[in-house]
Amino acid sequence: MIISPNYKSEAEFVLFEGNCLNLFAQLPDDLVKLIVTSPPYNLGKEYETRLTLDTYILEQRKVIQECIRVLHPEGSICWQVGNYVDGGEIIPLDIILYPIFSKLGLHMRNRIVWHYGHGLHASKRFSGRYEVIIWFTKTDKYTFNLDAVRVPQKYPGKRHFKGPKRGELSGNPLGKNPSDVWEIPNVKSNHIEKTEHPCQFPVELIERLVLSMTNPGDWVLDPFIGTGTTAIAALLHDRKAIGAEIFAKYNEITRQRIEKAQNGKLRIRPMDRPVYDPEGSVNSQPPVEVNFSRKNIQPRLLDADDNSAYRSNEDDNNL
Ligand SMILES: C[S@@+](CC[C@H](N)C(=O)[O-])C[C@H]1O[C@@H](n2cnc3c(N)ncnc32)[C@H](O)[C@@H]1O
Repeated sequence: MIISPNYKSEAEFVLFEGNCLNLFAQLPDDLVKLIVTSPPYNLGKEYETRLTLDTYILEQRKVIQECIRVLHPEGSICWQVGNYVDGGEIIPLDIILYPIFSKLGLHMRNRIVWHYGHGLHASKRFSGRYEVIIWFTKTDKYTFNLDAVRVPQKYPGKRHFKGPKRGELSGNPLGKNPSDVWEIPNVKSNHIEKTEHPCQFPVELIERLVLSMTNPGDWVLDPFIGTGTTAIAALLHDRKAIGAEIFAKYNEITRQRIEKAQNGKLRIRPMDRPVYDPEGSVNSQPPVEVNFSRKNIQPRLLDADDNSAYRSNEDDNNL
């Protein structure tokens, strides 16, 4: 695969090496079906200069405004954030960024809690073990493929025991809605996907968003792409990717990860599986090596084809 340094409609992956605001100038309106990113949190990490909170919000607003311009009318924006910390006080970034999205006319669909097991141990407050993904759509008509991301029912064989549906399966045989609380390990030192970047997305986190919010052939954009995780999740499922990253060393890691995936050598944690237990419980799954030429190597848990007409009550209530 040729990684294009600038946007071209025929490219599979555009990696813009610079400030995302300069990338936007190349992108046409309404292009991208999904924008998913984890922006700098203004914590003074090696890749950011700590700004006053007001300046940070203004900078984020500029990026969000451009994201909305390039977002397809049926598209989604997923902004993954944690806390800004000031003198021991936490300020959840989704709380301060939400008004930007809502004033710019977006519709919030979920505030997904991403829960994970590892992190720093706090001594003056409870240790933080979750971050959030705030999901917005541009309009009320948006792509959402729930069947592509269902997870196993707790009791898959359970049947109604009385009433007109007696004997029928009580849960959706395609699996259940994964809900808005996602238990996915974060990429810390013992994670199979770890690079030298301090805040990488796990591939499986982004796969769930890509599969549910886009269709094959759609564009996925990450304006702060870091080590290219969003592109890996998109390319793995036959979508096209655009990313921007200001640091050359992270762009180099992205190129290496993409090359590995092309050669079937990129190891990732399989989507929607329990945390790997080397002692070997029956449900544990080892890492998989993925390859872009074998699309959908991350299988859907259950095959939708035989059951596409099936709708459970859970899906009909439009909540
Ligand atoms: C939280 S990290 C994202 C990591 C990414 N999700 C991954 O999986 O590797 C944010 C990234 O944005 C980059 N960055 C900061 N400001 C930027 C800008 N204006 N344009 C493009 N990239 C930027 C940083 O260098 C950093 O790698």
